[in-house]
Amino acid sequence: MAEVKTLQDAFLDELRDAYDAEKQLTKALPKMAKAASSPALKAAFESHLEETRGHVTRLEEVFASLDEKVRAKHCDGIEGIIEEGKSVMEENFDDATMDACLIAGGQRAEHYEMAAYGSLIAWARALDHTEAADLLQETLDEEKAADEKLSALAEDGINQEAADAANPEEEEEEEEDSAPAPKKRSKPAPVVAKPRRR
Ligand SMILES: [Fe+2]
Ligand SMILES: [Fe+2]
Repeated sequence: MAEVKTLQDAFLDELRDAYDAEKQLTKALPKMAKAASSPALKAAFESHLEETRGHVTRLEEVFASLDEKVRAKHCDGIEGIIEEGKSVMEENFDDATMDACLIAGGQRAEHYEMAAYGSLIAWARALDHTEAADLLQETLDEEKAADEKLSALAEDGINQEAADAANPEEEEEEEEDSAPAPKKRSKPAPVVAKPRRR
């Protein structure tokens, strides 16, 4: 019968998976930066690419802290997320919509990483791998910050810009708001005079 594996084995397995995921992301992020139109979004992807290269190095330090050889195990999860991102990039979206989709895809990757690092840190602490836990926490903090940055970019303009491109008529109406537009007016609500109490 095969030997029973422990949490230590599961931990190492997940570390190798994360190591491979980070490496895949160092190849995907430059493509996302290239596909982005918003200079701020481009810069966000580029700066997270630098951080992601740091995550690869940091994982090598984690392996070293455990006296383990650096090994990668193919991460199917992140591969799927990257594949979905690739199909989005092949679509003929307007610029703002493409940016909104790149953010959505980027956030999927960040949340995947956050889940992975969250478990890794909890297991490292439970297994008394304090140095590894601290290193992994540094990466988790950067993933969270990257995710928040993407949310801010979406909510501070990119989503609305994409929505305006989807509804150009509504935008015109807003501009014409000061002028009367009788054909769009709905029937005025009947005015019910409330009897004034004395
Ligand atoms: Fe990462
Ligand atoms: Fe990340």
